[in-house]
Formats: sequence, structure tokens, C-alpha cells
Amino acid sequence: MSSETVQTALKGKWALITGASSGLGADFARDLAGRGANLILVARRADKMNELAAEIKAKHPGIEIDVIPLDLAVPDSPDNLYAQVKAAGREVEVLINNAGFGLYGMFMETDWARTEALLQLDIVALTHMTRVFAADMVTRRSGYILQVASIGAFQPSPTYAAYSAAKSYVLYFGEALNFELRPHHVKVTVLAPGVTKTAFLEVSGQKPTLYQRLVMMQSPTVVKIGIDAMLRGKTSIVPGVFNRLMAWSMRFVPRRLAAMLAYRSMTLG
Ligand SMILES: NC(=O)c1ccc[n+]([C@@H]2O[C@H](COP(=O)([O-])OP(=O)(O)OC[C@H]3O[C@@H](n4cnc5c(N)ncnc54)[C@H](OP(=O)(O)O)[C@@H]3O)[C@@H](O)[C@H]2O)c1
Repeated sequence: MSSETVQTALKGKWALITGASSGLGADFARDLAGRGANLILVARRADKMNELAAEIKAKHPGIEIDVIPLDLAVPDSPDNLYAQVKAAGREVEVLINNAGFGLYGMFMETDWARTEALLQLDIVALTHMTRVFAADMVTRRSGYILQVASIGAFQPSPTYAAYSAAKSYVLYFGEALNFELRPHHVKVTVLAPGVTKTAFLEVSGQKPTLYQRLVMMQSPTVVKIGIDAMLRGKTSIVPGVFNRLMAWSMRFVPRRLAAMLAYRSMTLG
């Protein structure tokens, strides 16, 4: 695809963004609207999404926006969402599987109900959303899916044990689907951000460490890198040169040592 075609690929198409009430999700909405896409915003907080929709419409009056408040950690939510979207006559060309949260702390000290909700949202809902929405893309022979993983996917991360393992699932699931769906002209890309300035750490229950403050990226930058990679059909992308180097170097580090390094970076300072 030429670079001009990439720039205009989303004009008038529908993009569904999960976790659109905050952080990266809100910036995905802003960025995609700037590229001419209509938006379906999904998260639990309707007030935040309505505020965002008003902000985007003021800037891009031609864009249509649906706001759908939904708890995606409820098992049948992806099916319900798909039914609502179809009833409204929307064809989803872009699926941004972004909703997710982390849980900071030693695994045995974390609350099981929160861990279970994390696994349900970060793994099961993401997989179910993909299954449901990719079916129409395969039939149409066109579509884009961005799976939001994390740099934590590249190594075992004590204090984020379940979260980083969940993101390893997202990384490998997305990369496998990139291969499987390519012949159907559906592009699947994994975005694996490093620490990014959003509500993520606060929701996880962690104060940023010195390391995290030093390497923190801005959310609009991460989002632009992710969408550009998705439009080009890249398998996966780690935003930021330092983050990329860290993820790549993990291939050469014994996993036991990688776990120790991750623990240090999550706890020192
Ligand atoms: N920020 C980082 O440092 C970082 C790094 C690597 C990866 N990530 C990943 O980036 C993604 C976005 O996180 P963020 O950094 O933007 O954090 P955030 O500001 O806390 O946003 C998380 C979003 O997920 C939504 N969400 C949470 N639980 C939900 C549920 N049960 N049903 C529907 N939506 C739900 C939240 O909306 P409601 O609360 O309104 O439901 C919110 O819109 C996550 O997958 C995260 O793991 C973040």
C-alpha cells in the first residue's frame, strides 16, 4: 500500500475502540478521528466517553460517534456488543483491543477477584472480541485489528506476574493471527508499549519507580506509532528506541535473570 493510500485508508470507516474512556484508548479515538474514521467507543464510564465524543465532534464535525457503556469483563459482553453494533448497521473495519488493567503486588498478596477480572478482560474478552469482529472482516476480505499488549510481555515480571503473563498471551495470540488472517486480507498487529503516561499505574496500585519515570512515553506518541504500524500490517511494534532495545535484548538474557531485572525496575526508587 502506498503511503498516500495508508493515510486515506480509514476515511468514513468505523473503528471500535475498547477502553476508550481514558489514556491510550481516548488517544486512539482522537487519532483515528483525525484520520477520518467514525468511532464506536466502549468502556464502563459513559460520562468520560461522552465528554470525549463532544471534544472530538467539536474538532471533527463530520465524524459519527457511538458511545456504548459496557463492562467487558462480563463473559457475554463481546456477543452483546456485536449484536448492538450490527443492529446499528455499523461495519467495523478497525478493532482496537485496548481495554485492560494491571495489578501490582506479589501474587500471593493480590486479591483473587481482581486477578480473575484481569484475566477475563486482558485475555478472554480480547480473544472473544477478536473472534466475533474478525469474522465479518474475513468475509469482507478487509479489516485491521490492533491488540494492545505490553513490553511486560517479553519477560516474566515479578510484582506484575499475572498481568505480564497475560500480555505474553496477547503478544503470541496476535502474532499468530497476523499469520493466519493475512491470506484473508485482515491485518492483525500487536502494540507492546513500555511505561506510558495514563491512569494505568494508579489503577494497578503502583507509584512510578525512578526507572518508570525516566522511560515514560506520552500516550499520543504511542498511539500514533501503533496505528501507523497497524495500517502497514506489521506483526508487532514496541514504541520507543529504548523500549525496543529492552524487548529485543531479553532474547539473550536467561529468564531467571530477566525476572530479577524486572523485579528491580518495578520496585527500586
Ligand atoms: N500505560 C502504560 O504504561 C501501559 C503500558 C503497556 C500496556 N498498557 C496497556 O494499554 C491499555 C490501555 O491502558 P491505559 O494505559 O490507557 O490505562 P487506563 O488509562 O487505565 O485505561 C484503561 C481503559 O480500560 C478500560 N477498562 C478497564 N476495565 C474495563 C472493563 N471491565 N470493561 C471495559 N473497559 C474497561 C477503562 O475504562 P473504564 O474504567 O471506564 O471501564 C479505560 O478506558 C491496557 O491494555 C494496558 O494494559 C499500558
